[in-house]
Amino acid sequence: MFLIHWPGSDAFEDSWKALEELYAVGKIKAIGVSNFQIQHLEKLFTFAKVIPAINQIELHPKLSQLELRKYSESKDIKIQAWSPLMQGKLLSNPIIESIATHHNKSTAQIILRWDVQQDILLNVKSTHIERMHNNADIFDFELTDNEMNQLNELNEDLRVGPDPDSFDFE
Ligand SMILES: NC(=O)c1ccc[n+]([C@@H]2O[C@H](COP(=O)([O-])OP(=O)(O)OC[C@H]3O[C@@H](n4cnc5c(N)ncnc54)[C@H](OP(=O)(O)O)[C@@H]3O)[C@@H](O)[C@H]2O)c1
Repeated sequence: MFLIHWPGSDAFEDSWKALEELYAVGKIKAIGVSNFQIQHLEKLFTFAKVIPAINQIELHPKLSQLELRKYSESKDIKIQAWSPLMQGKLLSNPIIESIATHHNKSTAQIILRWDVQQDILLNVKSTHIERMHNNADIFDFELTDNEMNQLNELNEDLRVGPDPDSFDFE
């Protein structure tokens, strides 16, 4: 899968058309975008022949991106979360710790399970092999509706990475 990393200053038409050509001749199995806001996707749809398979965006309990997710779902674009652990900043959150204790899981596992239960794909990183295994071991338990709500309520629209609307690419 190839993605356009950032929408930049809206100059992504040529890049998308180049990806579509490679996709059409079978050199790339899937094409998608990253850090696209609704207005970028709307612009893409004015010329795209292929719907992006995914939009990879910053997403974690402090930045739940509900509006963008709803829009993407309506267009059949899967969401993939980057920095799903907020670069580690959420791992000592007391609410997440309390849910983790209840399930005998790590705080990272609780956050990643919150994603999986909402059909959000993951791009999580660790440099430790045991943590990689831990992060993948999230399919033997389920968060309750009440726990999902507690995690949803952590949203503050807070980013750790750049805002695609104001990021200076120069
Ligand atoms: N598309 C984009 O524009 C974009 C932008 C930013 C990032 N990304 C991608 O998103 C991926 C993940 O983002 P990220 O690395 O910024 O943030 P992240 O995955 O939210 O957090 C990574 C941090 O969490 C720690 N960690 C991971 N698993 C853990 C565990 N089970 N227990 C304790 N600590 C754990 C890691 O430390 P250790 O390594 O020490 O375990 C690291 O400090 C990366 O591959 C990155 O390339 C994409």
